[in-house]
Amino acid sequence: MITNTELEKKGNLFPSKLVSYEQNGDSICFTSENGVQLIITVVRDSMLRFRYATDGIFENDFSYAIDEDQSHGYSVLDLTEDEEFIWITTEQIKCRINRVDMRTAMFDLEDQLILQDELGFHWEESFEFGGNYVKMSKNSMDGENFYGLGDKPTTFNLKGKRLSNWNTDQYAFGKDLPELYKTIPFYIGLHSAKAYGIFFDNTFKTHFDFCHERRHITSFWADGGEMNYYFIYGPKIAEVVTKYTNLTGRPELPPMWALGYHQSKWSYYPEAKVKELAAGFRDNKFPCDALYLDIDYMDGFRCFTWNKDYFPEPKRMVEELEDDGFKTVAIIDPGIKIDEKYEIFADGLEKDYFCKRADGPYMRGKVWPGNCVFPDFTNPEVREWWADHYKTLIAETGIKGVWNDMNEPAVMEVPGKTFPLDVRHDYDGNRCSHRKAHNIYGMQMARATYEGVKKYIFPKRPFTITRASYSGGQRFSSTWTGDNLASWEHLWLANTQIQRLGMSGFSFSGTDIGGFADQPTGELFTRWIQLGVFHPFCRVHSSGDHGEQEPWYFGEEVLDITRKFVELRYQLLPYLYTAFYQYCEDNVPILKPLVYFDQEDVQTHYRADEFIFGNHFLVCPIQEPNVQGRRMYIPRGRWYNFWNDAVIEGGKELWVDAALDSMPIFVKEGAIIPKYPVQQYVDELEIEELSLDVYYKNGKQNSVYYEDDHDGYDYKMGLFNLRTFKLTGKSKEIIVQQHVAGTYESNLKTMKVTFHGLPFEIKSASVNNEDVSLESIGYDKESNTIILQENFTDLRLISE
Ligand code: GLC
Repeated sequence: MITNTELEKKGNLFPSKLVSYEQNGDSICFTSENGVQLIITVVRDSMLRFRYATDGIFENDFSYAIDEDQSHGYSVLDLTEDEEFIWITTEQIKCRINRVDMRTAMFDLEDQLILQDELGFHWEESFEFGGNYVKMSKNSMDGENFYGLGDKPTTFNLKGKRLSNWNTDQYAFGKDLPELYKTIPFYIGLHSAKAYGIFFDNTFKTHFDFCHERRHITSFWADGGEMNYYFIYGPKIAEVVTKYTNLTGRPELPPMWALGYHQSKWSYYPEAKVKELAAGFRDNKFPCDALYLDIDYMDGFRCFTWNKDYFPEPKRMVEELEDDGFKTVAIIDPGIKIDEKYEIFADGLEKDYFCKRADGPYMRGKVWPGNCVFPDFTNPEVREWWADHYKTLIAETGIKGVWNDMNEPAVMEVPGKTFPLDVRHDYDGNRCSHRKAHNIYGMQMARATYEGVKKYIFPKRPFTITRASYSGGQRFSSTWTGDNLASWEHLWLANTQIQRLGMSGFSFSGTDIGGFADQPTGELFTRWIQLGVFHPFCRVHSSGDHGEQEPWYFGEEVLDITRKFVELRYQLLPYLYTAFYQYCEDNVPILKPLVYFDQEDVQTHYRADEFIFGNHFLVCPIQEPNVQGRRMYIPRGRWYNFWNDAVIEGGKELWVDAALDSMPIFVKEGAIIPKYPVQQYVDELEIEELSLDVYYKNGKQNSVYYEDDHDGYDYKMGLFNLRTFKLTGKSKEIIVQQHVAGTYESNLKTMKVTFHGLPFEIKSASVNNEDVSLESIGYDKESNTIILQENFTDLRLISE
């Protein structure tokens, strides 16, 4: 196989000396004596794109990843030259191109080297398939660390790892597997407290080596296609992530119910079982918003059909569940059963929509329904056809969300567990083989599903979830990490994977809580729920082969504790929804790993147990059995222990108590946290009073709260409120000011404000600059609580 070893270097070809270069608008094209061309495009002041063609012939410039709405444009582009180099300078970075061999180097404007080519671009001709294996190697700097790459089940910091991207169905996957369900060829490098990102937009099998083979070398390469990558300068990791997310897109706001607790199993059937499950949640007063139907709801696993023995009247059942506050989500896989009497098979055959082998026969493979054919989702016509099929499920039956699975694509009982490489695809008019289309097949299926669900659920918002995806797939779907295992190691992996996905543009993700394969102990289930309620997507799912995984199955103690944590999630829904808004609006990930939060603090570079949820919560899951607490790192700053308000000065590691009914949670000083009352499902209650938990700080801190209708599109017409709370804390006074942007008429009437950590006793108050008595604002001394009108603009509490 292809590696970057010195040995194989012998087979490599390299650009020779530069003979000419030419600027064309935002792009500069460099040509070498041996015919290699490099086009460098200034996408933004802090983002350059590099494309190489070995014989001067570029491919059609087409990408599934890049978002049409990305910000594009720069303010400065200076092209200069000296004897040795050509220089491209923007307002934020400099790129140096060597005349001798076209190797490049990136600098910041203080001339600090950020990244430079080692061998740089090189390639190997592919005699078997045509085209090239395209390769890039860079020098890694002293103390450099690496993050990103989507769902890889390995340590958060990727230094020392070699990983590859080939979407793979991995039942009960093991730690450190190089390939999993998704392909996100994007990583972040961090050295000298400065960060940059590389997005290698190539859908062939891609490989990444982070100082694994050679200590100071980072390389990436692909089995075909173009060397086509983006260099994204920070210098903050946060900036790299938001720029990458802007480049590849973010989703629209999901309906709020999608952020509730979801319950799934392979499979809940027949109807009576589903109803019993629903009753289980309500009887146990355990909040839940969605129930999932896995493959057994279908007739012989035929997509878009129902097994009428199990579900005689799906529409009625779905409606009844909805009346009880449950949304029903149904699975749809890509395999279409070969059965002439099955309409979708017959129709797809007639329209020639199924994938074919190189010489013409259909791509046949076994999945759950037996022998299947597979729609070519890389064909826009097929995507539209597929989208239209959701009419029955969504518009006619009332299903509220769709779960796409097996779309790596997974095929059973064949070597490689996927399509053979010769299978042909449309690739939106850029016809190619499966070598190129494999890694985006799942994303294009999810895209077709998203379009369909969106169309038929209108005027509500769609909810979709997919297992396989590629960079940019976050525009179309949420995701989960696939078939994990009920083990402590997998709980650790869950934590790492969801943080990693967040850094890779995919914030809306979660794991099969409790583990898909095998059965968790009550303790493991509890600890996993504690973590899972802080993941943007929160669903219990299991294979069902190994016993039950409903929260009440593990006994009273586990039920009570897990309920307490799920209730906490429901209380924090306005906070989570606000974080989601910031993700959709500003490309900010919902979970922030510690290195994202404070990259200057080297303590954070190798730590990933702890993370920031939204902007103000520090969370650290318990990942071991039989413990009453753990050591964890508290990042710099002052933090309140969520459970007892004890204040801790960060920048150090410490022991935090966490018996089974607790976990380490801290709130950043100065934070104002919006909270709802506990509900059994989203919008069960018409909420007229919002709780605001104010964590005193000596100084200033802003917090925001976003509100809208929780569903639908009115928010796009300005019907939302973005409330900014400005806290100013002094030794004997606290001021909270509210500024509201937006025109949404909220149901809120009052705000119940609770003060934490006030260093003084409240003696007097003013609201909107008028003195008021403490009684008139309902001051309760014991709980340090007052009640204000929702539209207050200025609150002052004073110790005299
Ligand atoms: C795959 C999915 C899993 C699902 C099962 C049956 O293994 O990853 O979530 O339950 O297929 O559809």
